[in-house]
Amino acid sequence: MAEARRYVRSGARIVDYGCGPGRITRMLARCGFVAQGADISEGMLDAARRVSQRSAVSAISYTLITDAWLEQAHGSFDCVVCSSVIEFSPDAHEFLERINSLLVPGGILLLSFANRRSMWRRYAKFRYGTGEPHFAIQRNVWTVGQCRAALARAGFKLLSTPRYFESVFDLEPGLRWLSSLQFIGTLGLISAKKH
Ligand SMILES: C[S@@+](CC[C@H](N)C(=O)[O-])C[C@H]1O[C@@H](n2cnc3c(N)ncnc32)[C@H](O)[C@@H]1O
Repeated sequence: MAEARRYVRSGARIVDYGCGPGRITRMLARCGFVAQGADISEGMLDAARRVSQRSAVSAISYTLITDAWLEQAHGSFDCVVCSSVIEFSPDAHEFLERINSLLVPGGILLLSFANRRSMWRRYAKFRYGTGEPHFAIQRNVWTVGQCRAALARAGFKLLSTPRYFESVFDLEPGLRWLSSLQFIGTLGLISAKKH
């Protein structure tokens, strides 16, 4: 959320692309953005709508991603937030171009990527690999250099170095800081701007 507040004005239109059950969409709405959730899964959107109705967040619209919606939403968002989605995409370049098309010129992308350098990711994959199906379906697990190159190729200029987060150390309050290290955090969050 700190990145959204830093790069995007309050009241701006943000789409949470691959919103899942809408956890981040609701946080964005609470921060004063005009937030919309979008996903390719009707089941996820149903869950997002149910939770949002129960929570005291102002109206959020949740949308199924279709070709028709992509066309209609072309160039209409000030910011795209995309958390824990691109790693599952069979074609990361096409995925980033699609996101680019949703943004106004100069629009902001806040993207999380699966961090290849994370030793915790490697250990967890080795230790729990067969019981954690998401490891098997992650196609893009990137170093920061690979992420940078993919963003540049899709027409984005980087605004920041990545902020790393999420690992087993989050369970222990005194050790949470370890997740912010490049060699530990399983995800990196990078901010970029559409050319
Ligand atoms: C791990 S969840 C992340 C949910 C949410 N962004 C978060 O961080 O809490 C991944 C979500 O991405 C969606 N998804 C997968 N492939 C997608 C694609 N190509 N375009 C948009 N959404 C996609 C899935 O349906 C799922 O809801």
